[in-house]
Amino acid sequence: MKKVFIDTLGCQMNKSDTERMFGMLSHFGYEETKNPEEAYLLMINTCSIRQLSEDKAFSQIGTWGRWKKLGKDIKIGFCGCVAQQKAENVFKRASYVDFVMGTHKLYSLPEIIKRVENGERVCECEETNLVNEDKNNDYEIQRVKSTNAWIPITEGCNNFCTYCIVPYTRGRERSRAPETIIKEAEDALKQGFKEITLLGQNVDSYGKDFKDRNYRLAQLLRDLNALEGKFRIRFVTSYPTDITDELIDTVVELDKVCEYFHIPMQSGSSEVLKKMNRRYDRETYAKIVNHVRSKVPDVTITSDFIAGFPGETEEQFEETLTAIDEFELDYSNVAAYSPREKTVAAKWVDKYIPEDIKEERFQRLNDKVKENCLKSNKKFVGREMEVLVESFYEHKGEMINTGKTRNNKTVHISCDKDLTGQFVNAKITGTKTWYLKGELAD
Ligand code: SAH
Ligand code: SF4
Ligand code: F3S
Repeated sequence: MKKVFIDTLGCQMNKSDTERMFGMLSHFGYEETKNPEEAYLLMINTCSIRQLSEDKAFSQIGTWGRWKKLGKDIKIGFCGCVAQQKAENVFKRASYVDFVMGTHKLYSLPEIIKRVENGERVCECEETNLVNEDKNNDYEIQRVKSTNAWIPITEGCNNFCTYCIVPYTRGRERSRAPETIIKEAEDALKQGFKEITLLGQNVDSYGKDFKDRNYRLAQLLRDLNALEGKFRIRFVTSYPTDITDELIDTVVELDKVCEYFHIPMQSGSSEVLKKMNRRYDRETYAKIVNHVRSKVPDVTITSDFIAGFPGETEEQFEETLTAIDEFELDYSNVAAYSPREKTVAAKWVDKYIPEDIKEERFQRLNDKVKENCLKSNKKFVGREMEVLVESFYEHKGEMINTGKTRNNKTVHISCDKDLTGQFVNAKITGTKTWYLKGELAD
């Protein structure tokens, strides 16, 4: 068996792609190693959401390039979102790379590997915009051992938010067939996974491209909920204005679907949202979030925000801070704006916010998120909650089981027995900023 090492730098979608790559490669005599030094095939699955992520991709493979120059017999593959965007240009920057494979060509990996093994240098980055089962999809998925299985339901994005590179690296939005998704879920459950997370840039627009206009995310959730056994279902990411009443009702109705929505707002200012090409303003977002909260008991709502979007004024930035408070957002990912090639906002150079101000806003945003996360956690102290245990480890001489509640709160339970993969009831005894502390309930 030859050994393959894959370094994954991107989001859950990238992680899911990596699991598919390992699955395909296992058919060609490759076995995964966690140690790059013993690998014959070294691959990097890249992310280009920010300049920093892109730079990281090139700096990581530098080491592999040096090994190769020293005469080590290895092959190097450059994949994922930066690959899709840069194509042949990757060779200019890193001449030692043996193949570049874009996101659209994931299922061409077997042919690419054959050609690379024959000494060819390969670049496969053509945009196909195929749903991935249109390509040979006969390989099983080699999932990372955990309690949760990621299942992409849509690929790509049509929204073209002015800051975002994803529509360029992942192509147009397309939905995967329900049968394929259900089959993948059944397989994961048979393998012992206890949670299914449906993935997409915009999961709530699932099915918009189907002939059957009635088969949407709500229906998919119903079909998955009907599968046997005890397990949980989650879905990320929701676009605010695509959340339908039917979807909200389904979350309330279905026992396996968890009370958790990730609804990125991006900015609290209606003017900034307009420049971002988001299809809602502050008031509309407020209405949506309040509606979800009023219908779904104990729901956790998380968001993403960007600090220092071109032209953002201090007042507009402060509207983001007040939005987090006002809408009681339980947690948010925050990022400083990073100009991305090809995107509309990147052209507004004269409106760029100076680095120091951007950094300062980013810090204030982080502090606000922290404050609200703690506030949100405190609501659950004293409650009994169901926790799906994800891992077991020692921390300062204490044995800890860590897991999540249905509403996606992390809970640390002090207990000497390894309960990984089990659903337990925990009494919440206290809280830290990012997690709850609990003990097993009788
Ligand atoms: N489809 C999801 C987001 C996918 S990208 C949505 O619409 O919300 C994940 C997050 O990265 C985004 O929510 C955004 O907050 C951040 N992001 C995207 N482009 C960025 C950029 N150019 N600079 C900084 N953050 C960015
Ligand atoms: Fe990017 Fe906007 Fe699409 Fe999300 S919805 S992936 S932020 S373009
Ligand atoms: Fe994901 Fe980064 Fe690509 S966030 S879709 S890996 S650009």
